[in-house]
Amino acid sequence: MFEATINTALPKAEFYQELAAQARSLLSGESNQIANAANLSALIYHSLPQLNWAGFYFLVDGELVVGPFQGKPACGRIALGKGVCGRAAQTRETQVVPDVDAFPGHIACDSASRSEIVIPLQKANGELLGVLDIDSPVLARFDDEDRRGLENVGNIFVASLK
Ligand code: SME
Repeated sequence: MFEATINTALPKAEFYQELAAQARSLLSGESNQIANAANLSALIYHSLPQLNWAGFYFLVDGELVVGPFQGKPACGRIALGKGVCGRAAQTRETQVVPDVDAFPGHIACDSASRSEIVIPLQKANGELLGVLDIDSPVLARFDDEDRRGLENVGNIFVASLK
């Protein structure tokens, strides 16, 4: 059985090295997008403390459509440029939002969310696959080390889809 427990007392850089190792191991040997998104959202949700939602939105016909996730039911579709997810998809830059109430146009799928990070997922040829959205009930939950660690996990996901 896959054991997803990572010691949350580790320094963040080491925590994310361990998360990356577990993500590689979990996704190795499988290249199906839904399967890997489902397993990776579960790994993230059950490894990182203080989360209330972790999952994927995939770009389908110019719109973000919800994919596999862990957490409460979420908005099915998000237009490019709308909310934090739509902004990450449009700019192709990770969005770290310390206070969702201060983000104009934030889409409140789960009213418990206080801060979030959204990572765009791009193939090597520049094609946008979608975004990885991670939400927390704690203000300013995500810092630059979380951004680096989770961008790396996003790259591991994209690389698994060969
Ligand atoms: N937080 C997102 C909406 C999606 S849910 O939080 C799962 C946003 O504003 O883009």
